[in-house]
Amino acid sequence: MIIGYAQTATRFGEKEFNFNQAAELLKDVKADLIVLPELFATGYTFVSREEAAGLAEELDGPTLLFLKGLAQKTGGVLTGGFVEKEGTKIYNSQALVSERGVIGVYRKLHLFNREKLWFTPGNLPLKAYRVKGVKIGMMICFDWIFPETARTLALLGADVIAHGTNLVLPYCQKAMVTRCLENRVFAVTANRIGREKRGGDDFTFTGASQITAFNGEVLSSAPENRVFIDTVEIEVEKAGDKRINEFNDLLADRRKKYYFNT
Ligand code: ACM
Repeated sequence: MIIGYAQTATRFGEKEFNFNQAAELLKDVKADLIVLPELFATGYTFVSREEAAGLAEELDGPTLLFLKGLAQKTGGVLTGGFVEKEGTKIYNSQALVSERGVIGVYRKLHLFNREKLWFTPGNLPLKAYRVKGVKIGMMICFDWIFPETARTLALLGADVIAHGTNLVLPYCQKAMVTRCLENRVFAVTANRIGREKRGGDDFTFTGASQITAFNGEVLSSAPENRVFIDTVEIEVEKAGDKRINEFNDLLADRRKKYYFNT
């Protein structure tokens, strides 16, 4: 299985530019799964709920149509972040899309910082979607700091976690080594670069997108300050076996009765 990412330099509010950039980066890429960053078409640093709502889309909007078209070219599925509108609510969402259309949508469960002012927290259960025999789970950026997110996806059978990000803190890439090791899953962390100084925020996005293997090995690490794409071939079946030696199985050995259930 070939998995990869596009690390973009998203321009705030310029969907057309951002689509063209992603299409250009991926024009010669063939892959089973490509991950694009969180909110890759809109930018991240909104100044009001109205501004975010003005860039929001439903599932038949231009961003997911763009991903569908791109899937025809890459020959696999893609996932990318978008501002999702449902009724009067907006969510920080990520869609998994094939050339036939939307397979599934994830709504960010753990909102970061001022995102809480614009977005409704995710209200859908975590899910692992089966695509050509491989189970793909989604999580978004700050979800990494809640180990329950990746653990739940692993318990649902995810082999690969598609992790779209707009990272501003320096810890995630190291943490993903542990997230993958403790769950024996692969993860693609697709980050962006650039700076957004808007409203009360001044964010520099940290690049260094990463593909992490089931054993914690870093298979791909992007530069911190330029657009980049990479793909790697993985033995995805390694994620299906949670045994780490003759006696230990990472999921079966959990002592659930002694864990807090809150
Ligand atoms: C983040 O969750 N975008 C930091």
